Amino acid sequence: MKYMTSAEIRQAFLDYFNKQGHEIVATSSLIPANDPTLLFTNAGMVQFKDVFLGDDKRSYSRATTAQRCVRAGGKHNDLENVGYTARHHTFFEMMGNFSFGDYFKPEAIRFAWVFLTEVMGLPKEKLWITVHHSDDEAERIWKEEIGVDPERFSKLDEDNFWAMGDTGPCGPCTEIFFDHGEEVFGGPPGSPDEDGDRYIEIWNVVFMQYNRSAGGEMVALPRPSVDTGMGLERIAAVMQGVHSNYEIDLFQNLLKATAAAVKTNDLDNKSLRVIADHIRSCSFLITDGVTPSNEGRGYVLRRIIRRAIRHGNKLGTKEPFFNTLVAALVKEMGDAYPELGKMQEQIERVLLKEEQQFAKTLDNGMRLLTEEISGLEGDVISGETVFKLYDTYGFPADLTADVAREHELTLDMDGFELAMEQQRQRARASGGFAVDYNDKLDLNGVTEFIGYEHLEGGAEVVALFVEGEAVHQLSAGQSGIVVLDHTPFYGESGGQVGDRGHLSWDQGQFLVKDCTKEAKSHLHHGELVEGVLSVGDKVFAQIDEQARRATACNHSATHLLHAALRSVLGEHVQQKGSLVDPERLRFDFAHFEALTADEIKQVESIVNAQILANAEIKTDVMDMEQAKQSGAMALFGEKYDDQVRVLSMADGFSIELCGGTHAQRAGDIGLMQIVSEGGIAAGVRRIEAVTGQGALAYVAANESSLAEISALVKGSRDSVVDKVRALSERNRQLEKEIERLAMMLTSAKSGDLAEKAIEINGIKLLVENLQGADPKALRDTVDQLKNKLGSAVVVLATESEGKISLAAGVTKDLTGQVKAGDLVRDLTAKLGGKGGGRPDFAQGGGVDCAALPAVLESVKVLIANI
Ligand code: SER
Repeated sequence: MKYMTSAEIRQAFLDYFNKQGHEIVATSSLIPANDPTLLFTNAGMVQFKDVFLGDDKRSYSRATTAQRCVRAGGKHNDLENVGYTARHHTFFEMMGNFSFGDYFKPEAIRFAWVFLTEVMGLPKEKLWITVHHSDDEAERIWKEEIGVDPERFSKLDEDNFWAMGDTGPCGPCTEIFFDHGEEVFGGPPGSPDEDGDRYIEIWNVVFMQYNRSAGGEMVALPRPSVDTGMGLERIAAVMQGVHSNYEIDLFQNLLKATAAAVKTNDLDNKSLRVIADHIRSCSFLITDGVTPSNEGRGYVLRRIIRRAIRHGNKLGTKEPFFNTLVAALVKEMGDAYPELGKMQEQIERVLLKEEQQFAKTLDNGMRLLTEEISGLEGDVISGETVFKLYDTYGFPADLTADVAREHELTLDMDGFELAMEQQRQRARASGGFAVDYNDKLDLNGVTEFIGYEHLEGGAEVVALFVEGEAVHQLSAGQSGIVVLDHTPFYGESGGQVGDRGHLSWDQGQFLVKDCTKEAKSHLHHGELVEGVLSVGDKVFAQIDEQARRATACNHSATHLLHAALRSVLGEHVQQKGSLVDPERLRFDFAHFEALTADEIKQVESIVNAQILANAEIKTDVMDMEQAKQSGAMALFGEKYDDQVRVLSMADGFSIELCGGTHAQRAGDIGLMQIVSEGGIAAGVRRIEAVTGQGALAYVAANESSLAEISALVKGSRDSVVDKVRALSERNRQLEKEIERLAMMLTSAKSGDLAEKAIEINGIKLLVENLQGADPKALRDTVDQLKNKLGSAVVVLATESEGKISLAAGVTKDLTGQVKAGDLVRDLTAKLGGKGGGRPDFAQGGGVDCAALPAVLESVKVLIANI
C-alpha cells in the first residue's frame, strides 16, 4: 500500500473501471435535473436514476463516475455530524461504478475487492464486510468465491438497504469497511461502538432491485442493476495513512487558509473543520446555480453558510472571512472542476453579502441564546426560544442545535414546529383560500391545446363551474369557468399569462377574461354575456389575436434577453422567475449586483441586433435526452413531460425548453426597450422591458419628455444635457449659499439672545423658541451663547414642517447640577419624541408642536427646583 494523492486515486479508479468496459461519465450538477423529489445530488447514481427505472436508455450499460455530492437536508443529511466525526461532510466526491442490467452481484463484488486489494494494495485483514441479512447470495459470494474471513463479516438490517430518497430506486447492499486500528475508538459494524471512527465504511455496493413508490410499495425494476459508491475522502485517508478525512491532502491547504482567515494557530480546532467542510459545499452549490434564500435549496445553502459564519464568530472573528476562502478552494479543486474558478468572483460576492447580512443579527442572537443556556433548568432549549432565534435573528434551527450540542443540550423541536405552525396559521388566516379544481376536475382526458397553430376553432363544453362548484348550465350575466375538449386559449403557465377572447355559439357569447391551467385542463374564466351555455354544447373559440401576438413577442424577447444577459454578465445568470403579458415582460435572474448603465445598454443592443437579424424562431418537439444534448436550457427543479418543446432563436443564440407561444421570426418583435432594472431579493435582479408597439410608445413618450425638458430649460435637443447639468450645479450652489446666510442670521440673532438670559437659583438660564430657524444652526448657536454667557444653561428649539428640533448646552461649571443629556431626554419625551447626549451638549426632536411653549416654560421650574 503506497501513499496516493486524492487526484491519483480519482484517476486510478476511473482508469480501472474503464478497463473493465465502463464508460467514464462526467459528474452531473448538484441540482438533480428534472427531479423534484430530491433536494441535491446525494450519490453517484442520481444522474442515472431514470436508467435504473427503465425510463431512459443510454448507449452504454456500464458506467463509472467521480460525482460531486451534497448531503445536507433531505434523506441523506450529514450536516449535523460535520465537525463531530472524522468522516462526515456536507460535500464530498463519490467514486462509483454502475451496471444497468449488465453484470450483477458476483462481478460487482469482485470488482470492488480487486480494486481495493490489488490496485490500491489494501491488506485483506484490514477489511470488514457487511451484507443484508436476507442476502444469502452475497454472503456466499464473499465467503466462497472471494474467500473473506468469516470473523470479519456481519449481516445487518436497515444499514444494508440503500435508497436514494423516500421514493425511487433502492435495494439491499453490501459494504466494505476499513479498520483504522486499535488506537482509534470504535467497534466493528453492528457492534454497540460502531459509531466510533475505527471501522469506516469505504465502499457501498448496492444491488438495485426495486423502485419504491410514494405509497411505500416496492416494485421490481425491469433489470437488476448495480450502483456502487466509494467516498474519495475516506479512501484517501486510508491511502495517506491518516485517521481523519480532514488530514488528507485535499483539506490541508484549506484548513491552513481557514486558520489564517480566522487568525488562529490551533489547526486541530473543530470549528476550522466545519468551516473548511462548509466552504466546499457552499461554493459548489453556488457554482451550480443555488442562491441563498428562505426556502428549498436556497435555504439549505443559507443554513450551511450561517453555520460556518457562527463557527468563525466562535473563534473570535468579527469581520467577514468565509468568502475569502474561495480562493484557497479554487487552488485545491479548480483543476478537477474548472467551473469553480470561472465562478470564483460570483461565489465570493454571494458569500460576502450573506456574511454582512447575518452579522447584523448574529451577535444579538448569540447573546439571547447564551443567556437562555446559562439560565436553563434541565437540558432542553425551549421551542419558543428556537423559534424566536429563527424568526427574529435568522438562526436556522440546526445552527441553534449545533450550539446546543456544544453544551450537551438538545432542542424542543416539537415546540419549535408548533410555533412555526401557529405562525403559518396566522399567515393563512390573513390570506384566504383558493378553490382546488384538481379535486373537482374528474374529467376523462385533458384539454387538447391547439393554440400553437390555431387562433380559433370549434370545441365542445366538457364542464362548467360557478364559484368553484360544478354546474350543468350557465346563463346570461353569470360569471364562471368553461372547460372545453380542445382550445386555442393558452392557459397561464411558464410565466406567460392566459389568453383572453370569446366563445360564441348560436345566440350566445361567453367573454373569456383569462385562461388558466389546472392539471392538464384549460379553465376559461369569464362571463356569459348572452344566451345560455350547457355541458355538451358546441362553441366556436376565438382568442384576442392582438393580445396574443403582443404576448408572443414579449415571450420571444424574454428568451433573447436571457441569452444576452448570460453573454454580457456570465453563465451564472439563471432564470428565477418571469412574467409575460401583452403589455410587457418581466424577467428575474440570479446576479449579485445592479447592472451598470453600460451593461444595460449592451444587453439591449444585443437583443435588438438579433431582432434586426430576423432569424426564424424554430420549435422542435423531442425527448428530454435529445433536448439536453441540444444544449437547451431548462429550469432546475421544473418537471417536464417526456416530450418537450425546444425553442431555438437567432440561429442557436438562445435554446430553451419552453411550452409558451412565440413569434415566428425575431423581427416580429420590432424593438425591445429595457424600462427598469432593480433588485428584488439577495442575489436576484429584475428587468422589465417592452417590445413592439409597447416599445414604440415608450420611445415616443421619452421623446416628448425630452422635448418638454428642452423647452423648460430653453435649450435644443443637443444642448439639453449641458443645460440641465448647469442648472443643477447652480441649484447646489444656491442651497449652500442659503445655508450660509441662515447661519449668519442665527448667529447675529444670538447676540440679542444673550440679553434674554434670566437668573434662577443663581444659574443663568436662556430658553428660546427660534421659530423657523435652520435646525442645523442650533448647535453652533448654543455654543456661541455658552461662550457669550460664560456660565449658563441654554435651551433652544425650532419648529419646521411640524417637527421640533431641540438643543441644550450647559457650561462645564454647571454640569454637576444640570446635565444637558438628561434635560433633553426629559423635554423631548414630553414632545412625543426622543433625544439625549453629553452633560454639556445634547439634542433631539419631537412632534407635539402645541406642547412646545409649556415644555420650554417647564425648564424654569426644573432649574428652580434643583
Ligand atoms: N448509492 C449508494 C450510496 O450512496 C452507492 O453509491 O451509498
